[in-house]
Amino acid sequence: MSDGSSFYITTPIFYVNDVPHIGHAYTEVAADVIARWHRQAGDDTWFLTGTDEHGQKILRTATANGVTPQQWADKLVAEAWEPLLETIDISNDDFIRTTQERHEKNVQRFLQKLYDDGHIYTGDYEGYYCVGCEEYKQLTDLVDGTGEYAGQLVCAIHSKPVELLKERNYFFRMSAFGQRLLDLYESRPDFVQPDSVRNEIIQFVKHGLTDLSISRQTFDWGIKVPWDESHVIYVWFDALLNYITAVGYGEDDEQFARRWPATHIVGKDIARFHAVIWPAMLMAAGLDVPTQVYGHGWLLVGGEKMSKSKLTGIAPEQITDTFGSDAFRYYFLRAITFGQDGSFSWEDLSARYQAELANGFGNLASRVVAMVNRYFDGRIPEAAELTDSDQRIRDTEQQATARADAAIERLAVHEAIAAVWQLVDELNGYITEQEPWALAKQPENAARLATVLHTAVHGVGTLAILLAPVLPKATAKLWSALGREDAVDAQPIRSAHEWEAVGRVTALEALFPRIEVEAAS
Ligand code: MSP
Repeated sequence: MSDGSSFYITTPIFYVNDVPHIGHAYTEVAADVIARWHRQAGDDTWFLTGTDEHGQKILRTATANGVTPQQWADKLVAEAWEPLLETIDISNDDFIRTTQERHEKNVQRFLQKLYDDGHIYTGDYEGYYCVGCEEYKQLTDLVDGTGEYAGQLVCAIHSKPVELLKERNYFFRMSAFGQRLLDLYESRPDFVQPDSVRNEIIQFVKHGLTDLSISRQTFDWGIKVPWDESHVIYVWFDALLNYITAVGYGEDDEQFARRWPATHIVGKDIARFHAVIWPAMLMAAGLDVPTQVYGHGWLLVGGEKMSKSKLTGIAPEQITDTFGSDAFRYYFLRAITFGQDGSFSWEDLSARYQAELANGFGNLASRVVAMVNRYFDGRIPEAAELTDSDQRIRDTEQQATARADAAIERLAVHEAIAAVWQLVDELNGYITEQEPWALAKQPENAARLATVLHTAVHGVGTLAILLAPVLPKATAKLWSALGREDAVDAQPIRSAHEWEAVGRVTALEALFPRIEVEAAS
C-alpha cells in the first residue's frame, strides 16, 4: 500500500581496488529498480550505495601503483565508481565512503560500546587469510590450486593462494549469538532469501560459530581501535557498519529511527557476512537486525563468476555505449532470474533488445502515438462502449499492476517485468486484431476507432508508469509524448492502471533505435 512507510535499501559497498564490471553494475541496477518502485509508490524510500576503502587489498593495490591508499581511493571513486552511477542511471539518495568522518567516528563509537559491554576480548589467531575476500578461511573453504598455483591451497572464489597469518588480535564473541541467529532465521523465514542462500546460512550457523577476529596489527590502513591505536579494525567489521553510519547512527537519532532497518541486496558470496556477522554485531549493540538480506546470483563467464581478478570482467560502458542504460537495466533483470546465476551473452542481449525493447515495446508505443496523430490530429479520443476485447486490455492493466507490485514485494524483479510484459504482448495482439488502420477507412466505424485508440493509449500509458523504474529514460520520453508535462516517475505505481488518458499526444521518436549488428558484437 502507498502508506508512506519507510523503505531503506542498500547495495554492498564496493572495493575500490579496481574499476567496476557488469557484475557490480548488476547489484546496483537490481537495488535501483526496487528503490525506484518504492519511491514511485509513495514509500518513504532511502537508497544507499558507496565504497569500501580500507583493508589490505586496497593498501596493496595503492602501494603497487606508487600512491597512498587514500589517493588511490579518491581517484577510483572519482574516475570509476561515481561515474558508474551515471552510466547505468542509478537513483541513490546517498553515497557513503568508509574513509568519511561520519563513518569512521561512529564505527569507533560502535566498537567502543561493544568493548564496554564485554563483547570484545584479546586473543591469538592463526589461520589462512584470503586478501581477495578479506576473510580468514576454514580449510573447507579452500581448494587445490592449478596452473601456476599447483600444489598450493587457493581460495575457492578467487583461485589465488591464501596466506597463513598469526597475530594477536581483538575478538568479537560472535559464538554467543549462534542460537539467537538460528531463532531469527526460524521466526522470520524471509530474513535471508532466496531459500538456497537461507539454507546454506542455517547449515553454516548450525555447525557452530567461532568468535571473530576484528582487528589487525600488521598494517595501518583502517580505522583505529579506539582504546588501542596499535590495531586497525578488520575491514568487514568496518564496512558492514556503513549501513547504519550513513543514516545517522551515533549522531542523528531521528534520522536513524526513520530509516533503519534496511533491506540489503548483496551477491550470494557475501551473504554470510550480512546474514551472520552483521546481525550478530547488531544484536550485541542492542540494535534492530536488518529487514532482509537477499543474496542474488552471479553473472557467469565460462561457468565461473565474472571477475576482474580472473580477467573476465566486462565494463558496463561496453554495453551502454551501444545499447543505452535502459537496455542494460532491462536485460540483466529480465534475462536472469533474480536469485539465480546467469550467463551474459552479446547474442542474447542483441536479440532481446531487438525483439522485446525495439519491436515489442518501442514499436508499440510509436505506432499508437502515430495513429492518434494521424487519425485524430493528436487528440486522444474518448472511448465509446467497451467490447470484451477492450475490457480484457483494461483487466490486464490491472492484473499487471497488482502482479508486478506483489513480485517486487518478494524482490522477484524478473517476475515483475514478466508480468508487465504480458501487457506489452497483449496490446500488440490487440492492435493486430482490431486493425485500427482498417477502421480508419470506414467512416461508420469512427466510434470504434476512437475506442480502440483510447484503449491502446491507455494501455501504453500504464506501461510507461509500470516500466519507469526499469526504463527511466524511455518511459520519460513516452510519457511526454502522451502529452503529459508531469514526471512519469511521479505517477502512483500501485494504481498505474487508473491514470486518465486525456489531452493531446505529441511526436515520439524511436525509443529503442535499430542497432547495427557489427557494433554490438
Ligand atoms: N566490499 C565488499 C562488500 C562490503 S558490504 C558491507 C565487497 N565488494 S566487491 O566490490 O567485491 O563486491 C560487491 C558486490 O558485487 C558483491 O555483492 C558481489 O557479489 C558483487 N559481484 C561481484 N562480482 C559479481 C558477479 N560476477 N556477478 C554478480 N555480482 C557480482 O564484496
